Amino acid sequence: MSKKHPQRTEDNQANVTASDKPLDHLPTPFYTTELGAAHQGDSRRLMSALPDESVDLIVTSPPFALQRKKQYGNVAPEEYVEWFRPFRDEMLRVLSPTGSCVIHIGTSWNKGSPTKNLYHYRLILDLCERFWLAQEFFWVNPSRLPSPAEWVTVRRIRVKDAVEYVWWLSKTEYPEADNRRVLKPYSNAMKDLLKNGYTPKLRPSGHDISDKFGKDHGGAIPPNLFTISNTDSNGYYLRRCRETGVAVHPARYPSQIPDFFVRFLTTEGALVLDPFAGSNVTGEVAESLGRHWVAFELHEEYLAGSMFRFERLQHKLFRESPAEYGAPQ
Ligand SMILES: C[S@@+](CC[C@H](N)C(=O)[O-])C[C@H]1O[C@@H](n2cnc3c(N)ncnc32)[C@H](O)[C@@H]1O
Repeated sequence: MSKKHPQRTEDNQANVTASDKPLDHLPTPFYTTELGAAHQGDSRRLMSALPDESVDLIVTSPPFALQRKKQYGNVAPEEYVEWFRPFRDEMLRVLSPTGSCVIHIGTSWNKGSPTKNLYHYRLILDLCERFWLAQEFFWVNPSRLPSPAEWVTVRRIRVKDAVEYVWWLSKTEYPEADNRRVLKPYSNAMKDLLKNGYTPKLRPSGHDISDKFGKDHGGAIPPNLFTISNTDSNGYYLRRCRETGVAVHPARYPSQIPDFFVRFLTTEGALVLDPFAGSNVTGEVAESLGRHWVAFELHEEYLAGSMFRFERLQHKLFRESPAEYGAPQ
């Protein structure tokens, strides 16, 4: 078996190979890879085994608050902030002083009403009792289905809810970050300009565009907007789950989201944590980018499926160029 294959850990065989010290106090992992370890269990308990300030980046998507509960036990909007607080406190404790915590969260509707619930606003206010909001990002999913059906497709009094939030939180005002690590390809107009030169002039807005504008910096600075259709129906993970009858995780986020933040906020060798790992997209991305990772997930079936992601990685380790984040030019 290749070294890059995930190794299912036998009971009582603590072979965490990911990174030496921070993970030493964790119980036996569910599986390990060259750079990471996935653990099954409640992440409140598992995080408590991580030392203070041992993690460089948390990228995660907790279960959203939903009126109708999904199969992995989503919490009602009214209980959400209270439920999340112990996770918030543990994430804060394990994060390094210059580390970042990135949380992707969806919104919810009020029961029986064409109005939005405010739980995500309450959550961000509560998180910011402890963290700085370094920046908020928005993920537009153009292929999102129209729902709730009653308001959107039956009565036609609301439109598709296609935007989800991604909050970048930090412990200091100056967390480790470098946007040169996530530059986008220049637009054709900018490429022309770089080729043919630019005459400095005043914009209609009154901004003075200096001659520095014509300098090639290797790419454009991306905006805080992702436009990504989450429509993968035949990727490797899905195919392997189907072939083997393993449950497919019903709420996976696109790999471009962790990819962006892992590059932007860490360098090689950093430790990335996902405390709500699901199918472990975060671990796969971290491994492919040469970062150590640790993943916690409550449900064994999702972790079992997530092992397939690492079979594939041996063929495409260490991607050279950034993923396309789909933001407009
Ligand atoms: C939105 S999903 C994450 C999906 C993941 N980002 C992916 O792309 O596959 C949230 C996950 O958190 C897990 N979860 C919920 N409560 C948890 C807890 N206390 N500890 C660990 N995992 C938990 C759920 O089982 C679910 O798989």
